[in-house]
Amino acid sequence: MSAPFSATYNEPYWIGGAAEKTHVFIEGNNLPQRMGQTPFTVAELGFGTGLNLLLTAQLAEHNATPLTFVSYELHPIAVDELARIHQDFPTELQPLSQAFLADCKPQPGWNRITFATTILHLFIGDATEGILTHPQSADCWFLDGFSPATNPDMWTPELLSHVSRHTKTGGTASTYSVARATKDALAAAGFNYTRAKGFPPKWHMLKATKT
Ligand SMILES: C[S@@+](CC[C@H](N)C(=O)[O-])C[C@H]1O[C@@H](n2cnc3c(N)ncnc32)[C@H](O)[C@@H]1O
Repeated sequence: MSAPFSATYNEPYWIGGAAEKTHVFIEGNNLPQRMGQTPFTVAELGFGTGLNLLLTAQLAEHNATPLTFVSYELHPIAVDELARIHQDFPTELQPLSQAFLADCKPQPGWNRITFATTILHLFIGDATEGILTHPQSADCWFLDGFSPATNPDMWTPELLSHVSRHTKTGGTASTYSVARATKDALAAAGFNYTRAKGFPPKWHMLKATKT
């Protein structure tokens, strides 16, 4: 599965594709154990290609979970380019990709897209601006805004304090970043974090719980 590359941030959207996203975000937040038949809300910083969305929607469909997925994207990929990227996604994601793309015409501000058991609220614009009107508290967060060295705007104490405000007590967050800036911003926002095994070639990642 080839990795799309962001010319704006000079960074690939991932290294290990669906396996990496599953390890860091789906398993990093314990979602296979947590998602049952009651409504569940996942939120994400950095919508990118929608790979995290589709992996989460797949799990939700499998568990008959009514899923709300909230995500933020400052530089949306054009829909025809998204469709091309999705062709490289695993075969089992293709029906969800088609259902999502059929209704995907994102405009600046909030967009609502429904498919399978998922309702997506997608904010097109800067996350720090959009999160002020975040629709509902999340059970977990995917912190996927490129590395803090490349993109410090997605890791500011201000933004992570809003993330915390929109996380249920006992809710979780995960990220591939183990940078000091990430740890400090998580701690200042009221998350307890632990280091966990990263997706190779990264040694470590962070799992956090809102206390
Ligand atoms: C690593 S990619 C996300 C990958 C994505 N989760 C996926 O499944 O494909 C990071 C994304 O964050 C977006 N981004 C960067 N700065 C942002 C900001 N200030 N507000 C919202 N999105 C931002 C980038 O445009 C990029 O699409």
